[in-house]
Amino acid sequence: MEDKLSIVAKSIAPSPIQELSHLAQRCNAINLAEGFPDFPAPSHIKHAAISAIHSDFNQYRHVQGICDHLANIMKQMHGLDVNPLTDMAICCGQSEALAAAAFAIIDKGDEVILFDPCYETYEGCIKMAGGVSVYVPLDPPHWTLDPNRFINAFNERTKALVLNSPHNPTGKVFTKDELEIIAEECRARNCLAITDEVYEHITFNNAKHISLASLPGMKERTIITSSLSKTFSVTGWRVGWAIAPAFIASAIRNIHAKLTDSAPAPFQEAALIALGSPPEYFESLRSDYESRRDYIVNLLARIGFKIQFKPQGAVFLFAELPENCQLSDVDYVKMLIQQAGIVAVPGCGFFHADLSLEKLSQEGYCYRGRYIRFAFCKSDQTLASAAKKLGQLSDAAGCLNLR
Ligand SMILES: Cc1ncc(COP(=O)(O)O)c(C=O)c1O
Repeated sequence: MEDKLSIVAKSIAPSPIQELSHLAQRCNAINLAEGFPDFPAPSHIKHAAISAIHSDFNQYRHVQGICDHLANIMKQMHGLDVNPLTDMAICCGQSEALAAAAFAIIDKGDEVILFDPCYETYEGCIKMAGGVSVYVPLDPPHWTLDPNRFINAFNERTKALVLNSPHNPTGKVFTKDELEIIAEECRARNCLAITDEVYEHITFNNAKHISLASLPGMKERTIITSSLSKTFSVTGWRVGWAIAPAFIASAIRNIHAKLTDSAPAPFQEAALIALGSPPEYFESLRSDYESRRDYIVNLLARIGFKIQFKPQGAVFLFAELPENCQLSDVDYVKMLIQQAGIVAVPGCGFFHADLSLEKLSQEGYCYRGRYIRFAFCKSDQTLASAAKKLGQLSDAAGCLNLR
């Protein structure tokens, strides 16, 4: 009966994260793999959700106040004027917002440009919508954008691009100069942009998150997607949104109505409180994550990982295997699980570009098997336990010894 599956279903494979998480569960490993916080959500928003349940917000629901808050936030953060009545769709997380956006704009055979390495879900959504993903590699170690490669990725079938900044898995925050290159090409090629800004409030040091939509001529061609998930440590609440020109937002709302009808009602109510959090909330989110970032960078550098690029945002460290390590990223993670009792994600799952089509050096060709993604959205206790386990396996020089 398996032949009854659709071509698309057969082409969407489980991610390496899912496969390794079974091994990790068997070994009861500390989870530095998945990008969800293991610490409590802020109590002011949990109380709001509990109170919404007590008040019987149990039915399909659209909470317009979320859109009003988002319009204010867009104005304050990016100087963007968006109409809360026409330019928004509330969805079940950024994931549904992106899927609905893909269905809203992609026809069979349309090409969509993505930057590589890349968060895994975009390609599946683009494929389900009938589109074709075209990857533009970012260059290690700083994951810089090569303007020529980017420009060469466009052709007459290019419909849109997807930009994720702050970026999963690398922690890169795209600079104003890079965004200008992207915007210029979008304008020149009449190309749409879908942005994934779920880490918009998590940036470090002097890095500043700039929404692509805020660049000249981009608001009318950009679909911003984001959610409560990362900013409020509630990835399971499933409240997200798309902000787009009215005709696209309306299409996304129609598709959303067919897919899920509405995001969970009590959590939409709680979103009103979350989005109204004072500036101090966002400041402490940033500074807490910056300390966790520094902790994990120091920990992994100490045991021999090569860290040439410190994350500028988001909640992941994309660390390069120690120079003398001959193992592949997948084998390294297996040993990390079995011997250290820690699970992380092999970097290969985030790379997609077909480099054989490009004249890349041998060195450029191999970097794909050399990275491991560690999530640092974890409690101090989890991070300290991981440090202890790694310490126990380190040699006299402090380097991690897996064999
Ligand atoms: C870049 C990125 N976008 C989107 C998501 C998922 O967002 P949501 O929970 O709002 O669907 C994640 C989760 O890890 C992510 O890393």
